Amino acid sequence: MLEPKDVFIPGKLPLSQTNIYAPRTREKAQERFIKALSRGHVPLIFGEYGVGKTSMARHVVRIDEDKGVLVNIESVAGKSLQDIFGRCLEKLGYAVQTKRVTGSSSLNAHEQSAQAKAGLPWLESIIASKRTKTEGSTIQNEEQFVVTSPTDSKLIELCEAAGLVLILDELHRAKPEFTQELADFIKTYGNANCRKFRIILLGTSSEANKLVQIDPGIDRLIQEVHLRAMDDSEARYVVSEGMKSLAITIDHEIESRLTSICVGSPNILQYLCLEAAEAAFVRVPRELQMQDVDNALKEYVENREARLYRAYLSAIETVGEKRYRKQILRAMAECEDEYVTMENIRSLSSQYIGEDVPSTALSGPLRDLKEKKFGPLLQDVDRPDQSGRLSNYTVFVDPSMKAFIRLLAASEGTV
Ligand SMILES: Nc1ncnc2c1ncn2[C@@H]1O[C@H](COP(=O)(O)OP(=O)(O)OP(=O)(O)O)[C@@H](O)[C@H]1O
Ligand SMILES: [Mg+2]
Repeated sequence: MLEPKDVFIPGKLPLSQTNIYAPRTREKAQERFIKALSRGHVPLIFGEYGVGKTSMARHVVRIDEDKGVLVNIESVAGKSLQDIFGRCLEKLGYAVQTKRVTGSSSLNAHEQSAQAKAGLPWLESIIASKRTKTEGSTIQNEEQFVVTSPTDSKLIELCEAAGLVLILDELHRAKPEFTQELADFIKTYGNANCRKFRIILLGTSSEANKLVQIDPGIDRLIQEVHLRAMDDSEARYVVSEGMKSLAITIDHEIESRLTSICVGSPNILQYLCLEAAEAAFVRVPRELQMQDVDNALKEYVENREARLYRAYLSAIETVGEKRYRKQILRAMAECEDEYVTMENIRSLSSQYIGEDVPSTALSGPLRDLKEKKFGPLLQDVDRPDQSGRLSNYTVFVDPSMKAFIRLLAASEGTV
C-alpha cells in the first residue's frame, strides 16, 4: 500500500511511478517542449529557481533514461565541453582520456583546414577507445579516435547513431568559455541534421539569452520554453491526484487553500502536501482537515526553512506605519521577473499600502536591504537593457527567498 512519502517527495525529482507529477500545462510549456524535441530543435527551458525545470525535462525523457541513452549533466558548473563530450563517449562505451597536444602539427592537412572552419582546437584533446568483440569469434578490435575541437562532427555522428539524449542543466552556472563553445557545438549539431540525437538546455534565469549565446547561427535551432510558477490547475492536479492515490478525501475549500498558499512553488506544495497527508493518513476515516494544512505551513516556515525565516524577520521593520522594508521584500517576491526595477517595487508597494509611494521614500530602505546589517537579503545587478543604457536591477541574494516570502505574504495570520 502506498504511503504519503511514496507520493509526495519534496526536494526530489518526481520520476518514480508512485510520485505525483503534474503535467506542465501553463502556457503549454510541456507540450511546446515535447514538440521542440520531436522536431529536432534544441529546447532551452528557463525560469525562476525551483519552478520544476529539471523535473519536467527528466520526466519527459524518462523513456530514454530507461533505454540507457540519457546523458544527464546535472550541472555544467566548472565543466568544460570536453568533460561533456567525455561523458557522452563513456555512455557510448568508450574509454576516455584527455591529452595535451603540442600545437596542431599532429593533425593532417585535411583536419587542420576542417578545424580552421569550425572553431578553435583545444589544447587538450580527447582520446576515445573502445574494445569491440565480433560476435561468435574472439577477435577484439580497438577503435580509437581523437576529438580536438568543440565542433567535431564525428562525435555528433556517434551520438546520432546511438540516439543519445543530452541534458545540460544549470547553464546559469557555466563558465563564459563554456557558453561560447556550446554555441559552436550547437551550430555544428544544427548542420548535422540529426534525426535521433537530442540536446536539452536548462537554466535559472528570467532571460534565455543569458544562458546561451543565441546568435543568428543558432537562433533558428533554439526553442525557448519559459517555465513559469505553477498555476492553479497544475497545483490542483498535484493535490487532488496525490491525495486520491492515498485514499485521502479532501474538500474543495481545503484544496484551494493548499493551492493558493504554495504560491506557485512545486517544492513548497510537495512539502505541505506530504506533511498534511501524513496527518490525515492515520485518521479514520482518512480525511484532510484545514488544521493539517495550517500545521504543515507552520512546520515549513518555522522548522524546515528556519534559516530563511530568521533572516527575513531580522530584516523587516517591526515599527513604523508603512514598514517599507517589508513592502519592498514582498514586492521583490511577488514580481514575476527575477530582476526587479525600482519602478516595479514602487508600484507594488503603493498597491500594498493603498497610496502612492514616491521612490524617494523607498530608496533608503532598499539600500539598507543590500547592507550586511540586513542580511544582505538583496543585491544589485547592473546589466545593459535593450537601449544599451545601464540600469539598476535588484535580485535576491538567495533565490529561494523569493518563493518563501511569497508564502509568508499569502499565509499572513497563520504563521
Ligand atoms: N510537475 C511537477 N509535479 C509535481 N512536483 C513537482 C513538479 N515539478 C517539480 N516538482 C517538485 O518541485 C521540486 C523542484 O523542482 P525542480 O528541481 O525540477 O525545479 P528546478 O526548476 O529544476 O529548480 P532549480 O532552479 O533549483 O534547478 C521537485 O523536487 C519536486 O518535488
Ligand atoms: Mg534544476
